[in-house]
Amino acid sequence: MRLRHKPWAKEYMEAQEHVFIQHPEQLKGNWSTEFGNDHPLFIEVGSGKGQFILGMAKQHPDVNFIAIELFESVAVSIVQKLVETPMPNVRVLTVDAKRLVDYFEAGEVDRVYLNFSDPWPKTRHAKRRLTYKTFLATY
Ligand SMILES: C[S@@+](CC[C@H](N)C(=O)[O-])C[C@H]1O[C@@H](n2cnc3c(N)ncnc32)[C@H](O)[C@@H]1O
Repeated sequence: MRLRHKPWAKEYMEAQEHVFIQHPEQLKGNWSTEFGNDHPLFIEVGSGKGQFILGMAKQHPDVNFIAIELFESVAVSIVQKLVETPMPNVRVLTVDAKRLVDYFEAGEVDRVYLNFSDPWPKTRHAKRRLTYKTFLATY
């Protein structure tokens, strides 16, 4: 995915408190409180601009979804779409998936989606693949 620097992205997202979670570690074990219900929790790791997760969230209003995207300049597209078309069952995090255990209690997430993850074809970059053994152990 082409990365375009968007210096305004962080401030824009921080203003959307109902969508963008700045301190997800504070919600570890308590995501149902954030959503205000006990619906299942599905996350997508590496959500990009959010096409998949927003489509799913629209189809499944009885499921809570969290988009996890490393880059603010990419995740801001998801937040913009949610400002245009609010969906109470979606939140967005800009965090590194290697720290998921800091944000979710064991067993708190019911499903993890990975879609078209960056391939990182060179062997020396294998540890960055979202399917690398350390990531799989985390999920
Ligand atoms: C190839 S894109 C795919 C985006 C989307 N899933 C789709 O199908 O269009 C992979 C995305 O994963 C994100 N990503 C890669 N490593 C990540 C990590 N460790 N934590 C969170 N997101 C990551 C990248 O920033 C990128 O936006």
